[in-house]
Amino acid sequence: MVKICCIGAGYVGGPTMAVIALKCPSVEVVVVDLNQKRIDAWNSDTLPIYEPGLDDVVKQCRGKNLFFSTKVDESVMEADIVFVSVNTPTKTTGLGAGKAADLTYWESAARMIARVSKSSKIVVEKSTVPVKTAEAIEKILTHNNKSEIQFQILSNPEFLAEGTAIEDLFHPDRVLIGGRETPEGQKAVQALKDVYAQWVPEDKILTTNLWSAELSKLAANAFLAQRISSVNAMSALCEATGANVAQVSYAVGKDSRIGPKFLNGSVGFGGSCFQKDILNLVYICECNGLPEVAEYWKQVIKINDYQKSRFVNRVVASMFNTVSKKKIAILGFAFKKDTGDTRETPAIDVCQGLLGDNADLSIYDPQVTEDQIKMDLTSKKFDWDHPLHLRPMSDTTTLEKVRVVKDAYEAAKDSHGVCILTEWDEFKTLDYQKIYEGMQKPAFIFDGRNVVDANKLREIGFIVYSIGKPLDAWLNDMPAVA
Ligand code: UDX
Ligand code: UDX
Ligand code: ADP
Repeated sequence: MVKICCIGAGYVGGPTMAVIALKCPSVEVVVVDLNQKRIDAWNSDTLPIYEPGLDDVVKQCRGKNLFFSTKVDESVMEADIVFVSVNTPTKTTGLGAGKAADLTYWESAARMIARVSKSSKIVVEKSTVPVKTAEAIEKILTHNNKSEIQFQILSNPEFLAEGTAIEDLFHPDRVLIGGRETPEGQKAVQALKDVYAQWVPEDKILTTNLWSAELSKLAANAFLAQRISSVNAMSALCEATGANVAQVSYAVGKDSRIGPKFLNGSVGFGGSCFQKDILNLVYICECNGLPEVAEYWKQVIKINDYQKSRFVNRVVASMFNTVSKKKIAILGFAFKKDTGDTRETPAIDVCQGLLGDNADLSIYDPQVTEDQIKMDLTSKKFDWDHPLHLRPMSDTTTLEKVRVVKDAYEAAKDSHGVCILTEWDEFKTLDYQKIYEGMQKPAFIFDGRNVVDANKLREIGFIVYSIGKPLDAWLNDMPAVA
C-alpha cells in the first residue's frame, strides 16, 4: 500500500488529499498540520473550510484511508510520498518585502522531513513557490540527512479554484508534474503519475522539468489575473463612453483565440493566489535583471487596485461626495462566491475606503464569520508601491463603525446604499422591493459583481451602478474622479 502524507491541512492540502483518497482506495492518505484546531475541525462534522461537495468526499473516506492528524513527524516518517502544502505568504519584512515569497514554513517543513526520515521519499511541492525553490529544498534535504536515504523532489502545482475545488480535482484541465531528468527523477514522476492516473486521463497528465512546472503555475495565475485586469480596464472605458462591458466581453470572448471564460468585469480580483503569485513573478523578474518584464506584470495588480478605488470613489461621489455617518450595507465579503475565504478579498479595500470616509458599515456574508471580518478590517497590510496597500493600521474606533449582521435585509435596513461585493447566488433573488422600502432615499445599489438586473431595480426606484455598464443620469451628473 502506497502511503501519502500531506503537510498542511489548508484550502489546497485538505480537498486535494480527500479526492486522492476517494479515487485511490489502495492509497493511505494522512493530512497533518501543526494547527490542532484545524485538525480537530477536519475530524468533526464542521470542516474548517467551506467548499461545495467537500463534506461528502471527506465523509466517504475519513477513517478508512483518509486521516487528519497533528502527528507530523510520525506520519512523514512512514510515508512514501510527502506532499508539502504549507502556506507561502508574501514577505512582510526584510529583503524583497511586499513581493518575495516567505518560505519560512516551507523551509521548516523541509528540515523536518530531513530530520525524521528513515527511508527514501518522494517530496512533492504542492504550494506555489518561486521558481527554483525545489533546488533549495533539495539542498536542505540532501545536506541534512544522515544515511543513504534518497529524496526526489517533484513540482506538482495545484490548479484548483476555490468554490469549485472538488469539481476541479475530479475533472482537472491538466495535472502537471515536474521532475529531475535523471532516471531516479523520472521514476519518481512515474510514481506520482500512477496516483493521478487512477482517475485522470493519461493525456491530461503533463510532465516537464522542475523549473517549467514551477514557472507554469505562476504564469497561469498571471495570465488569468491579466484577463480580469484587461476587462476591468475596459470597464472603466465603457462607463466613460456608454459601451457595456458585458457586451464587449461577450463579443471579444467569441473569438476562439480569446475564449469566453474569465472575462467578467468586477470590483477586482481577490484570493490567496493572484496577487501573491504576480508579486512573486515581479520579484523574480527583477532579480533576474528584467525590469521591463517586471513592470509589465505589475500593471495587472495596479489596475486591480485602481478598480477597487474607482468603486469606492463612485460610491462616495454618488452620495454628494460624502458617506460620513451614512449607513452603507455590504453584501458579500468573501473573495468570490461559494467560499468563506477572505484572503485578499476586494471587500477589505472597499470597506477600508468607505470607513476612511467615515461611513457606517453593515456587513453580511453567508459564509464569513464576524471575527474574520473584524480581523481583516483591522489588520495591517504590507507596504508596497501602490497606495491601497498603505492601509493605515485601523484602531478599534474603526470597528465601532462596523456591524456584522445575519442577513441581507438586516444589512440594508435604513441604509443609504447597498454595495454587492461577492457574487453569491442568493443576492440575485433577494426581494429588492422590500429592501428599497426599508432604505433611505435616494436609495443606491452599487453592484460590484454585475449580479442584479439593473433595469428591474431602476423600475423599483433605485439608482444603480453596475461595473462597466452605461450610467444612470444621476451618476453621470456626479462624476467620480479615480
Ligand atoms: C485561482 C486560479 O483560478 C486557480 O487555478 C489557482 O490554482 C489558484 O488561484 P481562486 O483564487 O481560488 O483560483 O479563484 P478564481 O476563480 O480564479 O477567482 C479569483 C478572483 O478573480 C476572484 O476574486 C474572482 O471573483 C475574480 N474574478 C474571476 C473576476 O473578477 N472575474 C472573472 O471573470 C473571474
Ligand atoms: C489581426 C487579427 O487576428 C484579426 O482578427 C483582425 O481582424 C486584424 O488583425 P492579422 O494582423 O492579419 O490579424 O494577423 P494575426 O494572425 O492576428 O497576427 C498578428 C501578429 O501577431 C503577426 O505578426 C503574428 O506573427 C503575431 N503573432 C500571432 C504572434 O507573434 N504569436 C501568436 O501566437 C499569434
Ligand atoms: P493553502 O491555501 O495554500 O492551502 P493554508 O494557509 O490554507 O494555505 O494552509 C496551509 C497550512 O499549512 C496551515 O494550516 C498551516 O498551519 C500549515 N503548516 C504550515 N507550516 C507547517 C509545518 N511546518 N508543519 C505542518 N503544518 C504546517
